Amino acid sequence: MKINDRVTWVGINDSQLKKFHGDAYPTPNGTSYNAYLIQAEKTILIDTVFTSFADEFIENLRKKTPLEQIDYIVIQHGEIDHTGALIKLLEHIPDTPIYCSEECIYTLRGHFKKHLNCIPVRTGDKLKISDQQDLIFIETKMLHWPDSMMTFLTGDNILFSSDLYSQHIPINLPINIENQIDEAGKLYSNIFTPFSKLYLAKYQQIETYNWDFGLIAPGHGYIWYNPGLILQKYKDWSSYYSENQITILYDTMWGGTEILAKNISEGIKSHDSNIIVKTLKITDYHESDLIYEIFKSKAILIGSPTVNNGYLSTVATLINAIKGMRFRHKYATAFGCYGWSGEAVLQLKEELSFSGFNYFEHDLTSLWQPDEHKIFEAITLGKFIANKIKED
Ligand code: FEO
Repeated sequence: MKINDRVTWVGINDSQLKKFHGDAYPTPNGTSYNAYLIQAEKTILIDTVFTSFADEFIENLRKKTPLEQIDYIVIQHGEIDHTGALIKLLEHIPDTPIYCSEECIYTLRGHFKKHLNCIPVRTGDKLKISDQQDLIFIETKMLHWPDSMMTFLTGDNILFSSDLYSQHIPINLPINIENQIDEAGKLYSNIFTPFSKLYLAKYQQIETYNWDFGLIAPGHGYIWYNPGLILQKYKDWSSYYSENQITILYDTMWGGTEILAKNISEGIKSHDSNIIVKTLKITDYHESDLIYEIFKSKAILIGSPTVNNGYLSTVATLINAIKGMRFRHKYATAFGCYGWSGEAVLQLKEELSFSGFNYFEHDLTSLWQPDEHKIFEAITLGKFIANKIKED
């Protein structure tokens, strides 16, 4: 797919990929592994594709250029979905210089156990590709790996952004901008949330260069032909993002905690019908989808009955995922039924506070199934939280 006279997309669409990062991230539509070929006075390949597509990738690449004419390879990030085909490609062009970050040299050595002809680059380093054009490298450490970097092509004003601004969508599907933004948001929430401060600082640094981005070419998904749209979204998402949403996440053993969840939800809705309320049984959703809902929320409530002096293992899995996300400026509280002891809510309070949430002074427990008094308390809790959100 031609992007302009000099730049061609030479990636792979993988519509069969249903899970990414092991089981961590469902990709129901699949994804694309984006690689780009620049044909100026020099010929440059930016990134490769996932290992299992190496033969197809090399065959397609050959149709665009004799492999021997590739002067340089740029590797922006060492993860296998971008470097898997590299070693097979190098069998054809063994000593081609590979421009990458210092940390990426370490990553490539770790993955492939081979000495490669790597040339380390730092932020601001330039690689001349013609009399008129340079590639300028920008390290993006921890966005999302220590080795990550981006590459700016002057003249054409294209930012090759690696995982930043990506979406897990094969790009042979018709473009739907809402879907593109939603997939970009899901990826941001699950991959970049812990590094939001780093992103903001990096973007401020890039702004000082006064580059006029013509388009952004990410590592996965569609190219952004209107870069301002995704740059504004990333600015919002990295700045303690929330929508007017409260999310209730719960699991239940005999339905009591579920009754509390539904009545808290009714309480919120009765107080303010403009608030989006999502009441989600944890076991009905993939953890990554729940993280995305939490990312969009001003407040969350987590419900679990007490079992074996603690909360349910299904809830523990979600709590474990939340801990690493470093959410900030969000409220939380907990609720749940119990029979004999009732530690779950107290433990959830500790975990949520430890994870960076502002814990409400109100939570809710119910000895046995909720009676009419507990149902009233659940509705009252919902109203209290809706009011608190409105005040903020
Ligand atoms: Fe698309 Fe971090 O790999």
